[in-house]
This record gives sequence, structure tokens and C-alpha cells, in this order.
Amino acid sequence: MEIEVGRSTGGGDGSHNGSTMAEHGGSNDEGGGGGESMGRSQSMKERASYLVWQDLRVMLPSSGDGPTKRLLHGLNGFAEPGRIMAIMGPSGSGKSTLLDALAGRLSKNVVMAGDVLLNGEKKKLTYGVVAYVTQEDVLMGTLSVRESITYLAHLRLPPTLTKEEVKDTIEGTILEMGLEDCADRLIGNWHLRGISGGEKKRLSIALEILVRPRVLFLDEPTSGLDSASAFFVVHALKSMARDGRTVISSIHQPSSEVFALFDDLYLLSGGETVYFGEAKEAIEFFAESGFPCPIKRNPSDHFLRCINSDFDVVTATLKGSLRIQEKREESDPFMNMGTTQIKATLVEKYRWSKHAVKARARMKHLSTIREPATKANTTSHAGWWKQLDTLTRRSFVNMSRDMGYYWLRIIIYLVVSICVGTIFFDVGTSYTAILARGACGGFITGFMTFMSIGSFPSFIEDMKIFTRERLNGYYGVGVFILANFLSSFPFLVAVSLVTGTITWNMVKFNHGFSRYAFYCLNLFGSIAVIESCMMIVAALVPNFLFGLVVGAGVLGVMMMTSGFFRQLPDLPKPFWRYPVSYINYGSWAIQGGYKNDLLNLEFDGLSPGDPKTTGREVITKLFRMPLTHSKWWDLFAIYALLVSYRLTFFLVLKLKEKVLPFLQSMYAKRTVHRLKRRASFVKFPSSRRYQNLRTLSAQEGFSSPIP
Ligand SMILES: Nc1ncnc2c1ncn2[C@@H]1O[C@H](COP(=O)(O)OP(=O)(O)O)[C@@H](O)[C@H]1O
Ligand SMILES: [Mg+2]
Repeated sequence: MEIEVGRSTGGGDGSHNGSTMAEHGGSNDEGGGGGESMGRSQSMKERASYLVWQDLRVMLPSSGDGPTKRLLHGLNGFAEPGRIMAIMGPSGSGKSTLLDALAGRLSKNVVMAGDVLLNGEKKKLTYGVVAYVTQEDVLMGTLSVRESITYLAHLRLPPTLTKEEVKDTIEGTILEMGLEDCADRLIGNWHLRGISGGEKKRLSIALEILVRPRVLFLDEPTSGLDSASAFFVVHALKSMARDGRTVISSIHQPSSEVFALFDDLYLLSGGETVYFGEAKEAIEFFAESGFPCPIKRNPSDHFLRCINSDFDVVTATLKGSLRIQEKREESDPFMNMGTTQIKATLVEKYRWSKHAVKARARMKHLSTIREPATKANTTSHAGWWKQLDTLTRRSFVNMSRDMGYYWLRIIIYLVVSICVGTIFFDVGTSYTAILARGACGGFITGFMTFMSIGSFPSFIEDMKIFTRERLNGYYGVGVFILANFLSSFPFLVAVSLVTGTITWNMVKFNHGFSRYAFYCLNLFGSIAVIESCMMIVAALVPNFLFGLVVGAGVLGVMMMTSGFFRQLPDLPKPFWRYPVSYINYGSWAIQGGYKNDLLNLEFDGLSPGDPKTTGREVITKLFRMPLTHSKWWDLFAIYALLVSYRLTFFLVLKLKEKVLPFLQSMYAKRTVHRLKRRASFVKFPSSRRYQNLRTLSAQEGFSSPIP
């Protein structure tokens, strides 16, 4: 069990420093000195995770016959428990790509080749094996910091812990990440001003380290933080590492204090390894290669200065300015040598250096390690019911605090209902009331439900949080869907009661409590189906705008085939009548609604003295709907559709999870196979040939490939 309640924020157990871990790990030994308690060493052993990557290549295939862009060029490396590794490099050098490749979260348009081994096993490091703090913070803005951590603790901590222990863990994590000052503040969203960016980042990390994962990836956790908070964050990560975890973090321009905290350094430039080894030895390597670090310069700045080809653009600009040229030309060796050349020299030197030899030997050793506990043990620990309960409560709190989720909609429904009520006020049974009743029913089931599209932004936010938490293996798809439905239930009831009561009473539809109940149930079912439909759309589309467009399109088609705009028997038989009108909630809702309202009514004839028209005739002859089944069957069909839409939502999420990676790996295999036949691919390009000079402006918009 890797959960610890009491935690040390210091350097951890002295016997667990990096070298001890490194020496003992290989022999499957306990990682500590003889004085350790059995329990402690057992937990260390279970937590030990050795990560090795061999010849890791990531390519961006061109669609046509153009050149394939290489994002990572056959990288080799390893990460060990008890140590913290920094991945450094200029922006666009492939840091995020490397982390994504290791975590199995590359975006779909790139292909990966090579092996990632966890404890000697080739394994996809996703769904709960590792924790990944991405560059983008995906948080539920309506919760406070403490609430976010508490809900997650209830989701993830094992049920064996007592209430006190859980509370201690939560408070410990808050203290560890220095969040005590903002613990009770809301995180903030579009209409709430919340905590600062640095605090959000620390919260994201706190959420991941809550259960002390064995492997922790972080993408630029300190970007946007001042150097004191950056130090604080990395120091906390270092304590985690000292506790026996494997921590890999990309980092952008660390201060010298922060840099000194890292044990290992992976220096990347243009997707190639410039240096991989102990962080302390990097200075020596640069000096040996002919680029010593000036005494007063921060080593990490020096490394980046040497390999960031964007500095060539800077140099060129500086050279253009005569004033600066005269002053600096002799003093700065970089003025005379392009960074592309420096980088090429370093890559070449590294390949034959003792660091590379040492790393290769260690990798070979580590890839033969067989640790017993390689199963995903950072997946959720809480039981199914507990998860459902926690998720439902969290989702309910979110929905009740987010103005845009339901409140706004309830208000709009209220206003529109009053409008409908006044427009169709006391509709009566005159001849013209036949059409008025038809139109009013059609409007309410067709258009009023359409307004569900208003909560799309909140759906999309929910999906983002789900995706992040699911990738980290917190809970299952089924629990999420059920919790979402349960938490939205009271709001949907409120929406349908408000709309139903106002319109039913104002329009004066056919009287009787059972008719009123049917009317509200019909509305509730329709709105719930639309919600499910919108959730399916939200799961399929990449962003909010797409969601709105696709969602509106789908609802438009549903309205057209519901039997109001085009009568059901007139719908073209193939496709529109069968199956579309059958899987459309609208056609059932309108049929049920008309039967509920019209069946025992009698309407005046066209002119005075004409025979009365019965409701039955109106339904069968005018609206041309069959009376072969009762309105309760129509209602049942809507609820059956609700269940099947939710099931479809479940399947869509499952398929996205299971089938997409499969298709992706097929695509990767095919692309690699195709690329291998190209002459240019077989020969690995030397870094000298790879002298692409990018302008600074070209860097704009680089971001993590994670959507
Ligand atoms: N999915 C992708 N599609 C296209 N280009 C990508 C993709 N992922 C990464 N890249 C490119 O790979 C390079 C490295 O990106 P990245 O790993 O995000 O850099 P870093 O994190 O070091 O700033 C960039 O040039 C980026 O444009
Ligand atoms: Mg990045």
C-alpha cells in the first residue's frame, strides 16, 4: 500500500538517497539500511518503479509525400525511484512530447516508436499507473481548494483509513503544497475571481500527490511562478522523490537554487539528447566539450544559452546593431559560433562521453529488473458506492454554484413559460384552438427542450475534468455517468416542474391531476434525453464551438422529424421515418402530449352549427398520429430512449478509451512500416544536417499537444 498518512516534508529517510536506491534496486533488495522497520521497507519495495525508455522516436507524418517531421530522435534514458529528474530545453525542444510519450498520452496525429519499460515490462503507462500534472490546470472552478482536495481524497483514499487519517492526509497535503492561506477560497471560473495561477498550479500538484503515486510526471510545474514559489514546489517534489517515488519534471529556466534540487538532468534540443546524467556533472560535461560555464552564470541558463538555436536570431539581431557588436564580440564566444553548431558538437560529444556509456549500462541493467508490484496501484481505492456518492455530491455542488449550469436555464425556462402561457392563455376549445393546442404542444416539447444547449460550456468543462481524472484512473466511466445524472436530477425536476406548472395552468390544457403529472413527466423525460444527447455530443467534439454547432444541428434534425413540421406518415420511409423518427424523443413526446391533452375534448366546428370535432379525430385525421397505443407507452418509449442514450454515452466514452488507442497503434505501425521504406528514414539524420533556424515568432503558440 503506498498511501501514507503521516508525511515528512524534509529529505526523507537518509538511507533513501539516490545512490542507495540505485544500488539496491537492481538486486530486488529492500532499498534501505538495516535499521528500517519491515512495514516501511515493504512499502518502499512496492513503490519502486524503474522507468526505462529505449530508442524513443516520435514522428509527425506528413499527409502527402513530404518529409516526416521528427519530434524526438531516438531518445534513451531511465528514471529511478528516489530521484528527481529535470527535463530541460528551449521551448519546442520536445519536453512535453517526451513526457506525453512516456505517459502514453501523445496526441493522435503523431506516431511513436521505441520502448517504454516500467520495471522491465513493456507497458502502456496510462490509466492509473502514473500521475501526470499537465501544463494546463483542469480544475473545478466552483469548489474551494480544500473541497477539491477533500472530494478527491474521498474518491481515492482506501476505505480502511479512519476519518481522522483522511483529514490528516488532506491537511498534510495542503500544508505540503503551501496552500493553507487560500484553502477556503474558491478556485474561480468565468464568473468568479478565484485563486492565483501559482496557487492553481500548486493545487494541481496537490491533487496528484494526494495518494503518493509511484511515478509522477510534471510538465513545467513552475512556469508562471516566482522563484520562491518555484523553489517551494520543486522542494516538495524532491521530498516526494526522497520518499521513494520516481519524479520526472520538465522545467523552464529554473533559478540556480531550483536547479540544485534536481538529481538528474535530461537536456533536450530539437528532440535530441544533449546531455543525460547527473545534474551536477553537467557543468563538467559542458566544460569538457569546450563550453565552460562562466563563473557568475546560473548553470541552467548556460546550458539553455548553448543549445537554444533561437539565440542565433538574437545574435544576428545584436550583430546588426553596431553599438553592441563592438562591445561584446570578443567577450562572448557565442557571438562567433552559432548555437546550432554548439548544439551539434554537444550532441556528438555526448554520444561518445562517459555519461552516455554509464547511462547505457544502467539502462541495460534496469530493463532486466522485475519488480513484483507493477500493477496499476494508483487507481481508485474507494469502493464503487463511495465513489458514486462522492462524485454525485461534488457534481451537485458544482451545478448549484455554477450560474451557467442550471440556474440561468431555470430562469430562462421560467420567463419563456410565462411568455408561452400568456400567448396561448386559456386556449379553449374553439375551432382555432385545435391548431393552437397543436402548436403549443409542439413548441413546448420541441423548442423548450432545445434550450438545454445553453449548458454546453459547463458540459464541456465537466468532460475536461472527467478526461483528466479518467486518464489518471480515479474512477470508472459508469460511475461518472450515473453521478452526473443523479446530481442533475433535482435540477431537471425543477426545470420541468417550473415549465410544466406555469404552462399547464396558464394555457389550461385538459384538466385532471393525472394529466398534469403526465405532462410534467413527459417534459422531464424529454429534457433528460436532450441532456444525454448533448453529453454524447460533448464527448465527441473537441471544443465548445464545435459542440454548439453539432448540438444545434442534431436538435434541429430531431425537431424536424418529431411529427410537427412534417407529419409522421409523410416522412420519407427510409431513414427519416425508420429509424430516425423512432429514436427521436420528440415524436414520442408529441404523440403522448397530444393524446394527454386532446383525447376526450370536443372542438367547435368551422362555422356555427357545424358538427363538433372530437379530439380523437383531431389526432388521427388532422395530426395523423396512430391511436393504437396509449400515451403511457409513448412515455415509456421516452424513458427507454433516455436509458439507451445514457448507455450510448457510456459506450462512446468506453470506445474512445479502448478503440482509439488501438486504432492509433495500428496507424502508428502502418506509418512506421511505410516510413521505413523511404530511404530518408532508414538513415538517421545527423544533427549537423538538422540545422533548422526558427524565428522567435515561430515559437508563438507552441503548447502541449494534450488537448
Ligand atoms: N501533436 C503535434 N502535432 C504537431 N506538432 C507537434 C505535436 N506535438 C508536438 N509538436 C511539435 O513538436 C515540437 C516540440 O513540442 P513540445 O514537446 O510541446 O515542446 P516543449 O514542450 O519542449 O516546448 C514543437 O515544434 C511542436 O510544434
Ligand atoms: Mg511544453
